[in-house]
Amino acid sequence: MKISIFYYSGAGNTKFVAKKITNSFKKTHNVVSTKIKSNLLESTVDDDFDVLGIGFPIYFRNAPELVGEFLKTLDGKSRKVFFFCTKGLYSGNAIKKIMELSIKQNFIPSRYIEFYMPGTDALLLLAKKGSLLEKFFKSIYSRNIEVKIEKFTSNIVNSNTNIPNKKWYTFLDNLIVKNFEKKWTDQNKKLIPQFYSKKDICIGCMKCVKDCPRNNIFYDQHIQFGLNCDTCFYCIHNCPVEAIQIGDITENTVRYNKVTITT
Ligand SMILES: Cc1cc2nc3c(=O)[nH]c(=O)nc-3n(C[C@H](O)[C@H](O)[C@H](O)COP(=O)(O)O)c2cc1C
Ligand code: SF4
Ligand code: SF4
Repeated sequence: MKISIFYYSGAGNTKFVAKKITNSFKKTHNVVSTKIKSNLLESTVDDDFDVLGIGFPIYFRNAPELVGEFLKTLDGKSRKVFFFCTKGLYSGNAIKKIMELSIKQNFIPSRYIEFYMPGTDALLLLAKKGSLLEKFFKSIYSRNIEVKIEKFTSNIVNSNTNIPNKKWYTFLDNLIVKNFEKKWTDQNKKLIPQFYSKKDICIGCMKCVKDCPRNNIFYDQHIQFGLNCDTCFYCIHNCPVEAIQIGDITENTVRYNKVTITT
């Protein structure tokens, strides 16, 4: 049985979970795990699998657009697909929507699993190192991640379709959450021109340039940022020397890669 996992991860949470799921499957199956590339036209997908897994972070109560676009490039040929996602707080109907899309692509959706993770945006923008807010965000973690994953992967091949019901309070989302979300997004977008790398701290490793999902970071005498930014904050969380900042907003705030996840 060959299992192929494709995942998208902005700041690393979903990558973390994808690795754990892959390792869990490795004990009994032939499994490969691949990050979904931002330029779908340039990437070729190996169609040689029996079961597909798709992982993604929740962005604005949905799967990132790229994940839906990726799924649309595949033909399920009546094969099973499972889903996993990471979220800060609330995923709306994201899983339901992506499962319905998978049916359109001729897949048979089986199980799904969701994990609460530290909101990588909230940690970076709101939580100073050592603050109560940092403790609060860390306390939101899903506990026993490995145990849950073992249970999830144990019988994935034989499990039946398990599409969640539509959440009845979606209309409340649209009244309340959507408004808050728009403000948060607009605020994040305003931050884009303020991204910079501290010249005296940057060690020129080029990790940010290589990893930016939007190819928005380039080197011209020093690290520079364009305006084609998704505000995924990957670059800031993963710079090994914390050289990347957004104005003075992110001085001394928490970097995700320094957070220890208890499993
Ligand atoms: C642009 C953006 C939008 C987000 N929207 C939501 C959301 O609607 N609901 C939620 O629970 N978490 C939301 N989050 C938090 C992420 O889903 C969470 O941090 C996730 O684990 C990130 O995974 P990643 O590190 O693999 O990108 C959002 C994060 C970002 C950066
Ligand atoms: S990841 Fe950090 S240290 Fe490396 S090039 Fe980018 S800004 Fe410089
Ligand atoms: S520049 Fe923007 S899109 Fe690129 S890694 Fe940084 S936050 Fe993400």
